Amino acid sequence: MRTIRDLAALRARVRDWKEAGESVGLVPTMGALHPGHISLVGAAKAATDRVIVTLFVNPKQFNNPEDLAKYPRTEDQDAALLQPHGVDVLFAPDAATVYPQGFATKVMVAGLQDVLCGAHRPGHFDGVATVVSKLLLMTGADHAFFGEKDWQQLQIIRRMVTDLNIPARITGCPTLREKDGLAMSSRNMRLSRSDRLAAPELHRAMEKAAAAIRKGAPDLAALAEAEAAILKAGFSQVEYLERRGAEDLTPPAPGEARVTRLFAAAWLGGVRLIDNIAV
Ligand code: PAJ
Repeated sequence: MRTIRDLAALRARVRDWKEAGESVGLVPTMGALHPGHISLVGAAKAATDRVIVTLFVNPKQFNNPEDLAKYPRTEDQDAALLQPHGVDVLFAPDAATVYPQGFATKVMVAGLQDVLCGAHRPGHFDGVATVVSKLLLMTGADHAFFGEKDWQQLQIIRRMVTDLNIPARITGCPTLREKDGLAMSSRNMRLSRSDRLAAPELHRAMEKAAAAIRKGAPDLAALAEAEAAILKAGFSQVEYLERRGAEDLTPPAPGEARVTRLFAAAWLGGVRLIDNIAV
């Protein structure tokens, strides 16, 4: 695996591969890698001839400067973790390469970005859509892989790629969880020992609510019970806990038969955790 920071060097590499008729897979990350990220690499390896992992802590998607400052940066560890997985290139550009002097363009996916995380993190998904469109264009990838853990992000990226005719296939990969059900996340390493013990209650309460809704319980009652359980476990705030359509993220009408998911974001000891599951 070669680490490349320079765009011209990346493009030369990709040109050689494409001339040899090889397909190129892309796994965008912000580093602090864990098995969830590695599962995306596995999906890419299985589907494409060459795999590029990108590591870039994208300042434009942090609406909170403190969150950006605190975001873990562990490039050496990340490179070591990727080494045995057959990645061809780790593309780790600096901010000036991604956003050169005078950068003035924003990619904004209307509608999908206004709800759930988007309603609570102004500008976040503009930053995601902008950087992912750039990463797809910089790498020239044929196929890119994203986690269902960030379901809203995945839907926004699908919409953007369709709308902008970006010639890349987008694949969503299942959420990897710890044994106790907590969705793996780079943010989990910021939880204190006691908060780490409380954290799986988010997923547990969501599963219980989903099961109740499947059996016919009204959303309001099932979700209120889940919220109470999450707060009782020690979370300081449930930012949202909602059932929405899996693709368009709109709320279902009462009794409407549609594929829906539960989506939640909640704060635990100053760390914001998100999760989503099928109903
Ligand atoms: P990051 O949080 O580093 O996540 C990189 C990719 O890993 C995303 O597609 C995310 O959904 C996926 N991922 C994270 N946790 C996962 C888990 N437990 N199971 C499966 N996949 C998981 O998401 C971002 O970075 C950024 O927004 C990015 C797309 C790189 C743009 O900056």
